[in-house]
Amino acid sequence: MRALVARGPGAPLRVEEVRLPAPGPGQLRIRIRAAGICHSDLSMVNGTLAPAYPLVLGHEAAGVVAEAGPGTRLPVGAPVVLNWAPACRDCWFCRHDEPWLCAANTAPAVARGETAPAVARGETADGVPLHVTLGLGALAEEVVVPEQAAVAVPAGLPPAQAALLGCAVLTGTGAVRNTARVRAGESVAVIGLGGVGLAVLIAARAAGAAPVVAVDVAEAKRELALAAGATDFLLADDRLTKEVRARTEGRGVDHAFECVGRSATIGSAWRLARRGGAVTVVGMGGKDDLVSLAALDIFHSARTLRSSVYGSSDPDREVPELARSLGAGTLDLRPLVSGTLALDDAPAAFDRLARGEGARWVVTF
Ligand code: APR
Ligand code: ZN
Repeated sequence: MRALVARGPGAPLRVEEVRLPAPGPGQLRIRIRAAGICHSDLSMVNGTLAPAYPLVLGHEAAGVVAEAGPGTRLPVGAPVVLNWAPACRDCWFCRHDEPWLCAANTAPAVARGETAPAVARGETADGVPLHVTLGLGALAEEVVVPEQAAVAVPAGLPPAQAALLGCAVLTGTGAVRNTARVRAGESVAVIGLGGVGLAVLIAARAAGAAPVVAVDVAEAKRELALAAGATDFLLADDRLTKEVRARTEGRGVDHAFECVGRSATIGSAWRLARRGGAVTVVGMGGKDDLVSLAALDIFHSARTLRSSVYGSSDPDREVPELARSLGAGTLDLRPLVSGTLALDDAPAAFDRLARGEGARWVVTF
């Protein structure tokens, strides 16, 4: 089968013919219908993260069960959305209702470059063992994954939008609902309007937040932000803090969401939040990018700083919920899909993502 493979940091991305193993006990082979390109994929190839190579990119996808290994329950033909943080349901975190922090999840170790052997799966045409992004490697015609990494969803969903449920939408929605618990009438600022930030916007509006101020360095994001439900769009420049304060009676927002993954924007989010407000870090930054905050300011501002890993969600419960809303038309993810493209065009879409163009580019098969 064909997959988008990174051979090393900075190396040109290529679609390669690769071999996957047959699904073993508890595993499924999934035929991918659609897979989104997320900034975390870009971070795996531009040197921000240091994963092991050769690496099949992609971790946000919808597909259909093509072959079921021994001991699995999902039937062939079942539509699924992939989950990059399958919970073991047995570790301390899972038993304490924090499945997104499951100790068995190898994603944090992979990001640090400590690839767990279980994440190596398949091989290149010339016989080199392949690694798969976040245990999935979904920018590919097929994946072989543990059954827990496949969440059953209703049939008939639009594949490109369904794919986004597995990362950007679950992350953004969960950050609003689970991590920050935004209430109707609260004010929100969102910094960084890629797939993740736009999903935060959509969820914040759905929660009844107002104003919802969208912030980006790219003027081109204005239209996308307003389409996704922002009440205001502001450029990330020197006047940002003042402009946000002007919209919140001088206080700053109840909730600031950082959806870029950089220390500088975490600093901005911190300054946009009111005294006693909450800063939710949704972006995944680099390990050497340090945030600096004054101890006095931490004390007097009385703000909360929290990160939202995978939207502090339980994908097994929340992906089907979101899928039902998508099917019913109460969740409209069309503003998130900038375009669909063939796998061969994925390298060019990575370049567009790096330039900050569009919301989500989605490969369809
Ligand atoms: N201030 C404001 N916006 C910025 C800045 C900045 N200094 N720098 C970049 N941006 C904007 C870009 O213009 C772009 O619109 O942030 C957005 C990032 O969007 P994407 O690259 O599409 O990223 P996305 O896939 O949404 O992921 C965002 O979440 O999951 C993590 O690893 C992911 O850290 C990444 C973050
Ligand atoms: Zn992602």
